[in-house]
Amino acid sequence: MTPQSAILPAASSHAIFLLLRRRLGRRADSKLAAYLSGIPAASKALHEMQPDTHLMSAIGFSADFWPELFGRERPAELRAFPHIPGAIHPAPVTIADLFLHLRAERADVLHDFASNFLDDVKDWLEPVEVTAAFRRREGRDLTGFVDGTENPELAERAGVALVGDADPAWAGGSYVHIQRYVHRMEAWNKLPVLQQEAIIGRTKASDEELPDDDRPRTAHISRVVIEEHGAELELLRQSLPYGVPGGDRGLYFVSYCRTPRHFEKMLARMVAPTDDGRVDHLLNFSRAVTGGAFFVPSIERLQALAAS
Ligand code: HEM
Repeated sequence: MTPQSAILPAASSHAIFLLLRRRLGRRADSKLAAYLSGIPAASKALHEMQPDTHLMSAIGFSADFWPELFGRERPAELRAFPHIPGAIHPAPVTIADLFLHLRAERADVLHDFASNFLDDVKDWLEPVEVTAAFRRREGRDLTGFVDGTENPELAERAGVALVGDADPAWAGGSYVHIQRYVHRMEAWNKLPVLQQEAIIGRTKASDEELPDDDRPRTAHISRVVIEEHGAELELLRQSLPYGVPGGDRGLYFVSYCRTPRHFEKMLARMVAPTDDGRVDHLLNFSRAVTGGAFFVPSIERLQALAAS
């Protein structure tokens, strides 16, 4: 089974993330299903015509929307974005049915592809949020810290991000979670670097993990590194910075995983005093304003929609 192209490769220079929802009273029909199933082929064809673009795509569907497209058969762990009991930082859930992740080396191609997509599906789906994002030098987030260092190596990514034998009918698919975070840049930039490093749990310039003894339990890294049965829970993050100078800006967080459990556990340890009474101090400087959970089926399973 072939994963959709945007999931596994190392970061591109640009991305556009689209969240859409069903128009009131409209149901997905065979015309929409056939169109959506053609997205991987359409992005591949454009890339082949203009190889310098490296256009890639991944399209996913919410638990609510799923039955309209795929009927009763569904991935074993497909469910809504988690509601975290006792959360003291916001982790809002956005009502969105479809997620489209577009990435490329050229922003103009992404813009055109996304515009055409919105136009083609407008009878059924309306945009909730469209976010253009970009890679900064060394993969640094707007906080100035390198983001993605501890992502799995390329060779290990499929094992982390893709459903395998545990759910063979949906092998090659992936559970994706998104959250748009808005950073409080003025407040963050006023912090001394040593304090910023204690909040992230890594050094800023050299991007090294702080030794365990120097790393507060409230550091971002301390919250999201979780061991279960002797192994660390892993995600494949494809997050990128977004926004405009002086306006809303921050991190568009995106993770792909073979199960939704890892993201859910990490988020719970960030926003709620779950087990040790601590939360993530990074969230004093950044706030989630959207959140969504989707399943991105393999290309073969998506293509089967056209025939249904
Ligand atoms: C404001 C939003 C966020 C920012 C700015 C941010 C930034 C960072 C940075 C700078 C690192 C260290 C470098 C690296 O290994 O990538 C990191 C690591 C990580 N983050 Fe985040 N992150 C954010 C949200 C999240 C969320 C929502 C999750 C999951 C629920 C998450 C999961 C992880 C994981 C798993 C690691 C790797 C930890 C390790 O193995 O050392 N992050 N993040």
